[in-house]
Amino acid sequence: MSHKQYTFHFEEYDSVEELAAGDAALLKEAREVTEIAYAPYSSFKVGAVARLANGEKVIGSNQENASYPVGICAERVLLSAASALHPAVPVDTIAISYHNLHGSSDAPVSPCGLCRQSLLEHETRFSHPVRIILSGMEGKVLVIPAASMLLPLSFTRENMK
Ligand code: THU
Repeated sequence: MSHKQYTFHFEEYDSVEELAAGDAALLKEAREVTEIAYAPYSSFKVGAVARLANGEKVIGSNQENASYPVGICAERVLLSAASALHPAVPVDTIAISYHNLHGSSDAPVSPCGLCRQSLLEHETRFSHPVRIILSGMEGKVLVIPAASMLLPLSFTRENMK
């Protein structure tokens, strides 16, 4: 028996103002996109904006449904849109923000498990890391170098060979 350990490094900034210009612009757009989310059931509006490897931008926001499980997270709306509109182009960086209409929106939140799996599929499909910028409508910002870091011991196409 041997003990194994998983660690990963990420960056934390006090505010959007500390980010490089391109990342700051992406996060500001994600904050704006929260407003067009369709979240009448949770009132938790999530906005995501991706910069693709060719410089194009794609957005996503959560889309809820009266049949709750039918709802889709902002991240997976974005990945589906990117894949449909630019099927051969990897996502380089995604900024994700949220506006909690009934609570606070001043601390970063991380993608849910389903979205982590979808982000991982995108990374393995293109052999290209997806950087993730996380922040609420204000306050601290986290920058994670690759989505796969959020999903240790993951299941990928490699496991099906
Ligand atoms: N949501 C996202 O859009 N992304 C996440 O990573 C977490 C949760 C959405 C789903 C639902 O519409 C609302 O936030 C509350 O869970």
